[in-house]
Amino acid sequence: MASYDLIVIGTGPGGYVCAVRAAQLGMRVAVVEKDPTLGGTCLNVGCMPSKALLHASEMFEEAAHSFAKMGVSVSAPKLDLPSMMNFKQQGIDGNVRGVDFLMKKNKIDVLKGTGKILGAGKVEVSADGKAQTVETKNIVIATGSDIAPLKGIEIDERRIVSSTGALSLEKVPERLFIIGAGVIGLELGSVWKRLGAEVMVVEFLDRILPGMDGEIAKQFQRILEKQGFAFKLGTKVTAVDTTGKTLLAKVEPAAGGASETIEADVVLVSIGRVPYTDGLGLKEAGVALDNRGRVQIDPHFATTVKGIYAIGDVVAGPMLAHKAEDEGVAVAEIIAGQAGHVNYDVIPAVVYTTPEVSSVGKTEEELKQAGLAYTVGKFPFTANGRSKVNQTTEGFVKILADAKTDRVLGVHIIGREAGEMIHEAAVLMEFGGSAEDLARTCHAHPTRSEAIKEAALAVGKRAIHM
Ligand code: FAD
Ligand code: NAI
Repeated sequence: MASYDLIVIGTGPGGYVCAVRAAQLGMRVAVVEKDPTLGGTCLNVGCMPSKALLHASEMFEEAAHSFAKMGVSVSAPKLDLPSMMNFKQQGIDGNVRGVDFLMKKNKIDVLKGTGKILGAGKVEVSADGKAQTVETKNIVIATGSDIAPLKGIEIDERRIVSSTGALSLEKVPERLFIIGAGVIGLELGSVWKRLGAEVMVVEFLDRILPGMDGEIAKQFQRILEKQGFAFKLGTKVTAVDTTGKTLLAKVEPAAGGASETIEADVVLVSIGRVPYTDGLGLKEAGVALDNRGRVQIDPHFATTVKGIYAIGDVVAGPMLAHKAEDEGVAVAEIIAGQAGHVNYDVIPAVVYTTPEVSSVGKTEEELKQAGLAYTVGKFPFTANGRSKVNQTTEGFVKILADAKTDRVLGVHIIGREAGEMIHEAAVLMEFGGSAEDLARTCHAHPTRSEAIKEAALAVGKRAIHM
């Protein structure tokens, strides 16, 4: 019976990063993975494939609609979907191989099979009908999340798809009907819209992207509508009739009322994700779940059983790869006796559409609700030189600062490359910086990041270019 300092169950961004950090700290580590490849949701059916298709479809769209105005004359681009899917797969394979390499480099054993916790210090790994029990001082549960189902609507991954099916459609649907205006709906809706689908999104709430700053979400919705997205907000889907060649989705106002039928070729169900703990044996092992089915942890990632920890999508907090990674590092350090820590006030979030949407810290709605006095500084990309010359002026930067201390509490950006730009705000906030600090930091010219400096100046009502 092999014996380890740490066994990590699950090799998504939470699990594999935790394993690497623990190995760096001198622990003898093994990971357990039930899927054929390492990397979890993010690398196999999440972040990576979706970003590959977003990139390829954006290039397709640009070639068709933006090249000519810059004097680049090309004939109308033709879509070769199998090649685009191959491009996506190459990206997945490259990243998955990268995780294999990291396991080898850090001398981490990879135990292929389904992990079940038999109690503190004991994990059973089963594959191909055979089971082995492995002993370990510590266990980290990093089993991630799965697609949230919608009652009465059966996902077949062909015509009614989850994100997984939507990443591998064999042809561009004429009409794509999306349930849920969250991150997945808007990112994958963008992919298929650019490739030629008519896209309608139905959202239960009266706004898109709940959780993001309301003003940003409103402008984002207008931009997406200009791109051809149709939205039905405050609406719920009660059934999808799959008997005919065309899918018939029955929708009605969320508050109740007359229903209508919408025709579609593919329906994407993207109404959130749920923690994944199937077959882990948590109940028998005494590991408690919270009221939403997530593994219950204390501020040090410890579950209700000594020596068993949990991180990532399977615990509370935003279901984001970088949050899972940071928790992986923190828990490895805690197990090693160090002071691992994650600052949940500074976790950036990005929607990788065109334009991108990014944010870090509090939204205006959250500050209002908390009764905090704040100042707002905004700067539009229409007044940013680099955006003007590139003719990509949609969007703006919004900075929320404490009215008394000027400390930056939240930064929200909608615009091209917003996902890259958000990190200077994250670093500033991590150091407790003020809008004045940001405004007095020299920014290279001409860059889109100058819009952040100008928004910081605007907090003090002294933006230069506006
Ligand atoms: P996961 O990545 O879900 O990994 C869990 C692993 O555990 C899996 O490999 C699973 O097979 C394994 N496992 C489960 N149970 C067992 C068991 N009993 N035994 C052995 N192995 C087991 N986040 C971002 O930050 N940026 C993005 O751009 C982004 N895009 C996304 C796009 C899509 C379409 C989706 C679906 C998600 C996206 N996410 C994104 C979310 C991101 O994928 C997750 O937050 C992240 O993968 C969570 O990491 P994790 O390690 O907690 O779990
Ligand atoms: P989500 O939580 O982002 O959005 C789900 C949306 O569906 C919400 O707007 C919700 O109000 C709506 N909804 C819920 N039930 C509904 C119903 N019955 N009818 C109509 N609308 C309904 O979840 P999503 O988009 O499925 O993504 C899952 C997770 O994956 C998210 O937590 C996200 O963090 C992560 N993710 C992150 C990405 C990124 O960081 N770029 C990309 C894709 C996913």
